[in-house]
Amino acid sequence: MCGIFGYIGSKRATPILVDGLRRLEYRGYDSTGIAVKNGEISIFKKVGKVSEMQSILPSNIQGTSGIGHTRWATHGGVTEENAHPHASSSGDVVIVHNGIINNSRILRASLVAQGVELKSETDSEALAHIIEIELAVDNNPEAAVRRTLQKASGTWGLCVLFKNHDVIVVAANGSTLEIGKGDGEMFISSDGPTLSEFTDRVVHLHDDDIAVLTATSITRSSLKGDRKSVEVSVLEKSWGEADLGEYEHYMLKEIHEQPDALRHCISGRLDRVRGNGRLGGLRLSPSALAKVPHVRLIGCGTALHAAEIGQLLIEKLARIPAVTHIASEFRHNDPVINPNALHFAVSQSGETADTLSAIKEIQLKGAQVYGVVNVVGSTIARQCGQGVYIHSGPEQAVASTKAFSNMVVALTMFALQVGRSRSISKEKGKEIIHGLQQIPHLIEEYLEDVGPIMEAVELVKDAKSVFFLGRGISAPVAKEGALKLMEVAYIPCLAYPAGEMKHGPIALLEEGSPIIFVVPNDHVKEKTVSAIHESKARGAKIILIHEEGDEISEEGDVNIAIPKVHPLLSPLLTVVPMQLIAYHTALALGNDVDRPRNLAKSVTVE
Ligand code: M6R
Repeated sequence: MCGIFGYIGSKRATPILVDGLRRLEYRGYDSTGIAVKNGEISIFKKVGKVSEMQSILPSNIQGTSGIGHTRWATHGGVTEENAHPHASSSGDVVIVHNGIINNSRILRASLVAQGVELKSETDSEALAHIIEIELAVDNNPEAAVRRTLQKASGTWGLCVLFKNHDVIVVAANGSTLEIGKGDGEMFISSDGPTLSEFTDRVVHLHDDDIAVLTATSITRSSLKGDRKSVEVSVLEKSWGEADLGEYEHYMLKEIHEQPDALRHCISGRLDRVRGNGRLGGLRLSPSALAKVPHVRLIGCGTALHAAEIGQLLIEKLARIPAVTHIASEFRHNDPVINPNALHFAVSQSGETADTLSAIKEIQLKGAQVYGVVNVVGSTIARQCGQGVYIHSGPEQAVASTKAFSNMVVALTMFALQVGRSRSISKEKGKEIIHGLQQIPHLIEEYLEDVGPIMEAVELVKDAKSVFFLGRGISAPVAKEGALKLMEVAYIPCLAYPAGEMKHGPIALLEEGSPIIFVVPNDHVKEKTVSAIHESKARGAKIILIHEEGDEISEEGDVNIAIPKVHPLLSPLLTVVPMQLIAYHTALALGNDVDRPRNLAKSVTVE
C-alpha cells in the first residue's frame, strides 16, 4: 500500500529519495516523509503528496543516505505525527515501514510501561523504539533489527537508518522490498520496476529476509540469523513510459495506450494456422487441458470484473464449468479445492494482499495457481510461479484501464486454447483470432471519434446515483464502468445485469435518473432493450452504448456508438466510453483523477 524508497551511496540522497517517492506515490498518498543522515538524522514529513512534502524541504540538505515513505493510513489518522519516518526516543534510529504489525498494541503497551513516550498512533513506531533498546545491548544494527522483528508478528517491508552506523538495514516479510545495486550506491524500493530509472541490477528480498546495506555491499540473512547468498538479477524492462508524455493525466494516457497494450499482449500468442492460442507460460499440454474438471478465477476490483468476463468466455468456448471468486472472501469461506482444477489469480500489481492470501489457501490445499499478472516479478507472479504476463506496461493511474483490457484478452486467449483442445473447431478458433487482431485498430478508430461523451458527463455529474446495466458478457462490463465512475467521480453507482433491474433496483428511479446501458449486438440485445423501455417509462435518462449502424442506435437520450465487434470480444470496446465518461466526470467535478481520495494503486493489506 505504502511506498518505500531508500538510498545509500555518495550522491546527495534528498533528490534521489524525492524522485523515487514520486514514482511510488501511486501506491499511497495520504502523507509523505523522508529521513536523511548527515551526522544527525533529519526528518521532514507532511500530510499530502510528495510535492507537498517537497515544498517544505530546505534547499540544500546534505547527506548521502536516507529513507522515504508515502503512506496509505491503516493505523491512526492522516496526520503529520502518524506519517513516516518514525524515530526512536533519542532520534538515533529512524524507520519506514510498509505492512501491519499485528501485535503492536502489546508492543506499544510494553514500551509505555518502560517509560517510552510514543508520538504517533501507528503500529510502526514501536519498531523504532524497540530497535533502539536492542541496539543498546550489543551496538549491532543487524542483530538489533533481528531481535526486534522476532518480537513482532505481522507483515513488513522495513528500512532502518542509524545515526551512528553507516548502513541501512532492510527486512521483508509479506511486503515486497527490492534492492537496486548501482556502482558504489544502493537503492531500495517497495516496487521493483521503479528501480529501472536508477539501475538494472536488483536483489529481491524474500519473506523473513534481513539485509545490511552499505554503499558497496549487501549482506543477507534470515530472521533466525542464518547467512544467505545474494542473488542479483537483471530487471526486465516493460514496454511503455511511466511518464505523462503529451497527456494531462495518466488515466487518459492509459486509456489511449490500450490499442498498443493489446498488441503487446497478443503478440506471438496466437497461432493463426491452427486457430489456437499459444500461452507458453501456462505449461499445459492439450491432453492436460482436456481433463480439467473446472476453472476458478480470483481477483479484486477491476481484476475481478476481468475474471468474470474470462469465466463466461471459458464456459462458452471451452465448455468447462468456470466460477469467479472475490479474493477477499475466498479463504475465509474455507473453500473446497479440487487439485485437478485450474485456478487463476488475476492482478495488475501482483501485490494485492487479498489475492495473495487466496492463492496461498489454494496452494495449501494442494492445487496449482496460474497468475494473470501485469507487473513482472511481483509477489503474486513469484508465488504462482507460472501463468501469463499481460504486458500492459506500467499503469500509474489508480483507476485501472489498460490492465483491464489486457486481462480480458489474456483470459480470452486461454479460453480459446482450452476450447481448441476440447470443443471448438479450427474455423471457430480462426474467427476469434481474427476478431482479436482487429481489436487494437477498432479501439483506435473509436478513440478518434468518441461520440457524445460530454453529453453523458452532463447527465451523470450531478446525479445522486448512476445505474450501469448490461446482460451476458456486458454485465461485468457494466460493473467495471460503475467502479470506474465511483472511484474517480465519487458518485454512488449501482451495476446490475439488466434483467435484475425489475426485481428491486427499479424502485430507485426518479425523473431524470441516469442509466448507462451497455448493449452490443449480441444474442441478449433484445432482452436489454426491454429493460431500456421499462426504465424510460419511469423517467430515466438513458446513455446507450451500442454498435454503430445498429437499429437500436436512437433508443437512448445520449447514444454512443462503438465500432462493430465480434460479440464475444465486445467488452474490449464497450468499456472504453465508460472509462472516458468516468475520466471527464472526475475532471468536471474538479477531482484528482489519477490519485482519487482514500485509494491506493496496490492494496497490500487484507
Ligand atoms: O493490482 P490488482 O489488479 O490486484 O488490484 C485489484 C484492485 O485493487 C484494483 O483493480 C482496483 O479496484 C482499481 N483501483 C480499479 O480501478
